[in-house]
Amino acid sequence: MEVIVQASTEQATQLCAQVIAQRLRHNPDLILGLATGRTMERVYQQLVQLHHQQGLDFARCRTFNLDEYIGLAANHPNSYRYYMHQQLFRHVNIDPANTHIPDGMATDLAAEATRYEALIHDLGGIDLQLLGIGEAGHIGFNEPLSALLSRTRDKTLTPTTRRQNAAMFDGDPTKVPSRALTMGVGTILDARELILLVTGAAKAAILARAVEGPITAMVSASAIQLHPHCIVIADAAAASELQGREYYDWVFQNEPEWAEFRP
Ligand code: F6R
Repeated sequence: MEVIVQASTEQATQLCAQVIAQRLRHNPDLILGLATGRTMERVYQQLVQLHHQQGLDFARCRTFNLDEYIGLAANHPNSYRYYMHQQLFRHVNIDPANTHIPDGMATDLAAEATRYEALIHDLGGIDLQLLGIGEAGHIGFNEPLSALLSRTRDKTLTPTTRRQNAAMFDGDPTKVPSRALTMGVGTILDARELILLVTGAAKAAILARAVEGPITAMVSASAIQLHPHCIVIADAAAASELQGREYYDWVFQNEPEWAEFRP
């Protein structure tokens, strides 16, 4: 794992977008795992900008989103399908047929989860999975005690997560759906590379537990410690409780793989 700390949220999101863009330029057939949420909005804006200004090409890219609320139709303004359309898909040259999100309206959720896993497998697996972290330590919607080997399935959201996401539901946690379909922790760990992007002081304590604490199902994000190719990008506020900052900064300043991303 490498932890890259950037002074501002803008720099952190920009670095994240630049790494994604570099991987896409290197492999136009990239299978890209996507996340939703407020942290990612600026990343998608920056990818859209790179598409318009530098011709970043999504024509052959295929995407898999981490999760979807159960019970929200694709055209519901709070569904993750709608979010992805608004934030990214409608602004770039991606073929809608190449964008995959679990169907939260499926009548047979177990069958939908199996279909989703099979599709990821049949297309060759995810090359790069983008992740955010929830205040309860989730990646995707893998709430505390999610098995570290879990696969795509339906999951009940914690009160913490429903409060965290209430802003998009008139500030009312009870309006946030109580369940979601989510890739499992095991599904996420199967991706060939992970990028976890974390911004803001509210995430500082949980980020320190995920990156530097013990691997535990109580903090599903701690499972990224098991992954051989994982980059964590944080702004200074989110990184404020990390102990190993001096080493992390040295790596970013000195390792050749980061040369093209240094200012
Ligand atoms: C969303 C997802 C979640 C979010 C996390 C952070 O698809 O998988 O794990 O990444 O809840 O959300 P924000 O960025 O809104 O704080």
